Amino acid sequence: MENALIKSESDYTNKYKQSTENPERFWAEIADNFTWFKKWDNVYKCNMKSADFKWFEGAKTNISFNCIDRHLENKGDKTAIIFEPNNPNEEAKHISFKELHHEVCKMANVLLNNGIKKGDRVCIYLPMIPELAITVLACARIGAIHSVVFAGFSSLALATRIQDCSCKTVITSDGGYRGAKTLNLKKIVDNALTDCKSIESVIVVKRTNEDVNMQNNRDLWLHEELEKVSSTCEAAILDSEDPLFILYTSGSTGKPKGMMHTTGGYMVYSAYTFKNVFQYQENDVYWCTADIGWITGHSYIVYGPLLNGATTVMFEGVPSYPDFGRFWEVVQKHKVNQFYTAPTAIRALAKESLDWVKKHNLSSLKVLGSVGEPINEEAWNWYNENIGNSKCPIVDTWWQTETGGILISPLPNITKTKPAFATLPLPGVQPCLMDENKKELHGNNVSGSLCIKFPWPSVARTIWGNHQRYLETYFSAYPGYYFTGDGALRDEDGFYRITGRMDDVIIVSGHNLGTAPIEEAINEHENIAESAIVGYPHDIKGNALYGYVIVKNNPNNEEEALHLRNDINALITKQVGAIAKLDKIQFVSGLPKTRSGKIMRRILRKIAEGDVSNLGDTSTLLNPEIVDEIQNGKI
Ligand code: WT7
Repeated sequence: MENALIKSESDYTNKYKQSTENPERFWAEIADNFTWFKKWDNVYKCNMKSADFKWFEGAKTNISFNCIDRHLENKGDKTAIIFEPNNPNEEAKHISFKELHHEVCKMANVLLNNGIKKGDRVCIYLPMIPELAITVLACARIGAIHSVVFAGFSSLALATRIQDCSCKTVITSDGGYRGAKTLNLKKIVDNALTDCKSIESVIVVKRTNEDVNMQNNRDLWLHEELEKVSSTCEAAILDSEDPLFILYTSGSTGKPKGMMHTTGGYMVYSAYTFKNVFQYQENDVYWCTADIGWITGHSYIVYGPLLNGATTVMFEGVPSYPDFGRFWEVVQKHKVNQFYTAPTAIRALAKESLDWVKKHNLSSLKVLGSVGEPINEEAWNWYNENIGNSKCPIVDTWWQTETGGILISPLPNITKTKPAFATLPLPGVQPCLMDENKKELHGNNVSGSLCIKFPWPSVARTIWGNHQRYLETYFSAYPGYYFTGDGALRDEDGFYRITGRMDDVIIVSGHNLGTAPIEEAINEHENIAESAIVGYPHDIKGNALYGYVIVKNNPNNEEEALHLRNDINALITKQVGAIAKLDKIQFVSGLPKTRSGKIMRRILRKIAEGDVSNLGDTSTLLNPEIVDEIQNGKI
């Protein structure tokens, strides 16, 4: 990737210019860094109106080969993955590229042995253990499409995702460690599978050694399956546009959206952005604290780093276990050079004593990263001063599950950083801001809806099974443009600051939560008629959830009310997951609605924030009197 490395401010300006003047040449030069079994016929053929995207069409490659095999000759013994277990007393594992090759080939053979073929969907529901990365790479090796489901999701959420793309198999583990807790993953899978007809087998990794129920003719232990297979498995020769993975993200309706990414474009873009945004140098140790269940983990724990032959840390645990010094202990232990985490983690750790930081030697750090939500100035400053010792540039990286890779971010020691600013687009990315009349805003000191006006290689190709929904969600608000759903401003320097979501998605602790699925879960309760969820600012989580709930029979006393609140959160935990629990629940007799029956969330948001001085125009409300009632009864 050395020829794709941006080295200075003027280099950035030049490359940016090249990328807009001759995108074909720009991307072809970057793509030349990879192994292609056959070169492409066209660099790209894209249509932003019909959302039809083809990159490196006609080319043949394999991303697993590019992540592993390509490095064997020169760095077979280099560590590819450092596995840091949840329990600090359990030894860390260093997996070399050679060993990774061996493991991935065996896992690929287990899949093949169990009837998995190119194009089949494989659900991966695993904790952050090496087998997770290995399975992802094994699927890619044989052309199976992986669908990783974050192991914090409930059985119902898992079932929905398995059904949506009709997965043939699930890879899971007996259990998982997360801080002081143990998760019973196999049990969750068993519950999910009562209603998943497409599943033919379940492959179970042994991690916690707890008793699990193994169903005859369906469930298999991975360690037994591994004994039956060889460690040779040729990488399949795949088309650049063959699907690589599906990853679900919440939307404004109940059904999650299965974002589909393909092989060649995603490979080129994840590797290019990893190299530049983290300025990775050979022998650096890179650590991203995300879970592979999210896009950050796909692109910047597994694919981006390994494509660059980097050493990537995989951490099983949480920042608070066994104490609040854990992140810094791991940085010291593995001499981490690039550290990439989420604002919610930074805020949580900034609340604790600085002694947790000071106890550790963080001098190996060169670059700090942030992702997932806007990072507030206070958290930015704390991160900069206490973790980076005011010497490590902070890359505030803006992107989405849909974009596959980072689109807007400073480049370390090249772009001037500004707290809370994602700053500038990477060369090849053309963001713009749109006004209310759907016109592009030119010049600086403007704010509007953030759109992207030119395709990039790792844009999602579709929503699995529903291209119409893909078109409507991202390409219809501003025809010819990709609409991100975010609001942003461009300051006097042309730097972008992301101001937040413009739709019904709320980011809680860095997790994207659609309000609809949560409301649907609550409405299942027999005593609840309707509900509306909004977000309100929270010190650590960024946003917390506030639910307005219309009950059919009001609770008679505090005890009954508490009971009902617990019931509501239990329903949410079951249907969506514990991350979507409500912090506050207010019982109301009605919700403010427009004449067309739409809930006016703007008003509910203001009340939840405690900012009722200016509720804006309520004249279009069908029931303005409800606003007073809700305001007076605010909890
Ligand atoms: C949404 C996408 C991209 C990986 C993690 C989240 C918000 C993400 C930033 C940032 C401000 C950010 C946006 C975006 N977001 N990064 N640096 N500054 N906001 O992926 O779950 O698909 O969520 O996260 O609102 O649209 P995701």
